[in-house]
Amino acid sequence: MPRSPDSYHDPVLLRECVDALVRGPGLYVDGTLGGGGHSMAILRALENGGWLEGSLLVGIDQDDEALHEAGTRLAAYSGSAVAVKGNFQDITRLASREALQKGMEPRARGILLDLGVSSRQIDRAERGFSYMQKGPLDMRMDSSAPTTAADLLNEADERELATIFFRYGEEPRSRAIARAVVAARMKLGRLSSTEELSDIVRSVVHGRQPAIRSLSRVFQALRISVNRELDVLHRVLEDGVSLLGAGGRMAVISYHSLEDRIVKQYFAAQSKSDWGPKGVGLREPLSRGVLVPVTRKAVVASEDEVRVNPRSRSAKLRVAEKTGGVQ
Ligand SMILES: C[S@@+](CC[C@H](N)C(=O)[O-])C[C@H]1O[C@@H](n2cnc3c(N)ncnc32)[C@H](O)[C@@H]1O
Repeated sequence: MPRSPDSYHDPVLLRECVDALVRGPGLYVDGTLGGGGHSMAILRALENGGWLEGSLLVGIDQDDEALHEAGTRLAAYSGSAVAVKGNFQDITRLASREALQKGMEPRARGILLDLGVSSRQIDRAERGFSYMQKGPLDMRMDSSAPTTAADLLNEADERELATIFFRYGEEPRSRAIARAVVAARMKLGRLSSTEELSDIVRSVVHGRQPAIRSLSRVFQALRISVNRELDVLHRVLEDGVSLLGAGGRMAVISYHSLEDRIVKQYFAAQSKSDWGPKGVGLREPLSRGVLVPVTRKAVVASEDEVRVNPRSRSAKLRVAEKTGGVQ
């Protein structure tokens, strides 16, 4: 069943996220509010458990349209939910401010990060995220951010561009595509449309492999670079863990291997105790891990979900719990 054209975004792994996160009243933070699908499900679960009183859901997004959409939906739970504009790299500051205003301890019981862009952002040609639509080379999730994809493409030198395509898109033809971008901007002047970039990529990969894969990798790479997605992911993981109360849980859904690797490695590193150098034979570790993995392996969408929502095909959910027992 295709996605309804009216729907802003079909939330992925919804039941799995809610079941892992909602286990009692407290502060819940959705760092990627989007259309509010996950947030609404968290609020409903709190309501069904009789935990709405004593709870606050803080939804954060850097996209004004998302805030407008989700803000309207969350209004049904006013008093228990608030939508806040910001980057999730500032999760502790943003969520603590809202919690303290409500007279709550700034200690989160649950944090959700559903990474990347929403279906609405991709569907809107004027946002420039999709190679399937003609639009400006923008790709900013936060439209007030200073650097667009066009700025990067026109100002970075050939080496920087090749590094972006390779590092963030794992594109095997990264150097040839970077060379073609530089040649095209010398010929055309400033590159400004998704169509121009698509033509450049097609001209390089033509006849070698399906162009669609390279298009998807190059557009992903630019988007990651414009929004500094991997940098802010590192930051939110650290900041988020410090915001969690004892027994609180963090759930992260990622959509490509670069993100998933960061989450997996961070959760693993934070789950390890430090026993000092080998052979010292300590009775107690120097420091104990601050997280316990809840999901040993990443949770993926069922075949049924993938059929209904193809976007869920690449989703991987990982959940970890802060040590120290239930709040
Ligand atoms: C996959 S969508 C989330 C969809 C949401 N879970 C739902 O059910 O509708 C990701 C959202 O997170 C936002 N986002 C991505 N990175 C962000 C960041 N660093 N800070 C704040 N918002 C971010 C995007 O603007 C987008 O609206």
